[in-house]
Amino acid sequence: MKKSRRQFLGMTAAMGLAPTIKANSVQNLFKSNQVEKKLKILILGGTSFLGPHQISYALNRGHEVSIFTRGKTIPKIHEDLFSKVEKLVGDRENDLESLRNRKWDVVIDNSGRKTKWTEDTAQLLKDHVDYYMYTSSISVYYPFVGNDFSESRSLVTEIPKDVSAQDKPTYEYGVMKAMSEIATIDAFGADRSLIVRPTLIVGPGDRTDRFPYWLARIEKGGDIIIPGGRDEVVQYIDVRDLAEWMIRLLENKTAGTYNGSGPAFDMTTNAFVHGIHASYNSSVNYVQIDDLDFLQENSVIGIQPWVIQLPQYAGMSKSDNDKAISADLQFRPLSETVKATREWWYSDAVTQERRDNILTSERSFMNSEKGILEKWYRRKN
Ligand SMILES: NC(=O)c1ccc[n+]([C@@H]2O[C@H](COP(=O)([O-])OP(=O)(O)OC[C@H]3O[C@@H](n4cnc5c(N)ncnc54)[C@H](OP(=O)(O)O)[C@@H]3O)[C@@H](O)[C@H]2O)c1
Repeated sequence: MKKSRRQFLGMTAAMGLAPTIKANSVQNLFKSNQVEKKLKILILGGTSFLGPHQISYALNRGHEVSIFTRGKTIPKIHEDLFSKVEKLVGDRENDLESLRNRKWDVVIDNSGRKTKWTEDTAQLLKDHVDYYMYTSSISVYYPFVGNDFSESRSLVTEIPKDVSAQDKPTYEYGVMKAMSEIATIDAFGADRSLIVRPTLIVGPGDRTDRFPYWLARIEKGGDIIIPGGRDEVVQYIDVRDLAEWMIRLLENKTAGTYNGSGPAFDMTTNAFVHGIHASYNSSVNYVQIDDLDFLQENSVIGIQPWVIQLPQYAGMSKSDNDKAISADLQFRPLSETVKATREWWYSDAVTQERRDNILTSERSFMNSEKGILEKWYRRKN
């Protein structure tokens, strides 16, 4: 069993060893997170949100990292680390030349946006790389109907013919991810394939405003709608928890399919907002609106991580993380996710325009919330 730093120091002190270890050597011992077997890791993608955190952890563990991109996306987080990374340029659409005749221990396919992209890279790399990790999504479970959101659930691999225009993009994404998982296993075999299905990823470097919205909303204070029933749960995964776990899975050569969702307990929407508020001093008044018809009439379909309990979304926050936890997925507390996201949100990495936008954009829920609340109060009286 792995010992924590405190346990280790306690043990060495009890053995009479502590005085012989110099303070700085103890520090160095724990600073270095290096693992014995260094990996050569290729990341397809790597410059957006999840990739930089994987790179940070991998380099810290002593691994070597190459990335493959078009060279268009400029990293906005951990920028300083990219000088230590080999940059291969190409295009998953039609130019994989820079990947040819090269060897890596593992590949992480983060940038899979088309099944063909994964088919092509998996076929190209299968004799040159030991393990292929495909970054999938819980969207493979769409529509989120039923009770089983474990890894063994059978997946939709074709878009139904009668699908509505509104549902089509979600089906397309889920089917693309499911088919890409199949393409990975077809090329590498089940024992050399690793599939990770993350839920909503949050934290520093997020390219969406889904989680920053809640921080900005709670910081602003006032009357805040909490949509849904008191027992409704939310799921999310801190990008660092996900990235670090993915690297550890590769280090351990763990094959298989894993949901990547947290936290480890059922977090209600109430617990979620209170957890965020613990980092702010704003005056807040939460207004729970559990009338689904009212929410739907007012287009409160999802203020993620909360998702409306329509049949096709009912299970979106219910992905089963038991298998992942058994495979060492660890979760930092919400307060740490809030702290790091807040620091990043107010850093140079985020433009003032983006910060303002979340408060003023017509599309931001913050703008319609007041009117919806007025309707809600009128209806109640
Ligand atoms: N965000 C979430 O909440 C969430 C939830 C579940 C699953 N996921 C999955 O998590 C994965 C990681 O997402 P991410 O946000 O870190 O970004 P990402 O999907 O890795 O995408 C961006 C990266 O792909 C590269 N790229 C884009 N088009 C390319 C092309 N034609 N050829 C070569 N490279 C290309 C980009 O660089 P260039 O532009 O320079 O080419 C960039 O490095 C994705 O697969 C996503 O589906 C995300």
